[in-house]
Amino acid sequence: MQKIIAPSLLSADFARLAEEVRAVEQAGADWIHADVMDGHFVPNITFGPLVVEAVRRVTSLPIDVHLMIENPDRYIADFAKAGANYISVQVETCPHLNRSIQLIQDSGAAAGVVLNPSTPLTALHWVLELVDYVLIMSVNPGFGGQRFIGNSLQKIAELRRMIDENGHSALIEVDGGVNEHTIADVGRAGTDVFVAGSAIFGAENYAHAIHRFRKLLGAP
Ligand code: DX5
Ligand code: ZN
Repeated sequence: MQKIIAPSLLSADFARLAEEVRAVEQAGADWIHADVMDGHFVPNITFGPLVVEAVRRVTSLPIDVHLMIENPDRYIADFAKAGANYISVQVETCPHLNRSIQLIQDSGAAAGVVLNPSTPLTALHWVLELVDYVLIMSVNPGFGGQRFIGNSLQKIAELRRMIDENGHSALIEVDGGVNEHTIADVGRAGTDVFVAGSAIFGAENYAHAIHRFRKLLGAP
């Protein structure tokens, strides 16, 4: 399967958001990753459905909404209506995870579950067959530009085995500290979707950054 590169808007220039979205689309991005933070689950606040709806109007790429908020069930329909194609919830915020997954899928979006670095893969045991993707956090969520947590590689590789051995179809997405130094290892561990904020929006030339990622992932 072709590897998916998903620039994270968290590191974009919000004063020029439309331009930034168009620029990464032109630079070869596959998805747009949108980090929603509420100042409760994570110590930072970003944006809600209104901004996702504005992004929807300027791109035809899939929008991947990563909810780092408490009580995500309450907002899933709003994000779907705003145009999100992929919606993920942190398992740490969902006491009724099956219901959250169902709400996302009923809204017409693909459903993802996210694990913090310290949350074990066993949290996925009874939902792996239901989800469209799993997002492995390789930093503690809240901020861009943090250092990749090394043992995430082992976690990704174990998840790859769990998915393949059981014949599941969930994609593996990885988020946090993905850059030109880490992406090759993240790819080898079995990742399908690569989120990168600072490594793309911090680059002088977005197309070069994305092209370099693809080369490091073994593209011809
Ligand atoms: C972190 C967010 C990430 C963030 C990644 O809480 O979920 O999507 O933007 O940023 P980088 O790629 O700079 O580590
Ligand atoms: Zn994210």
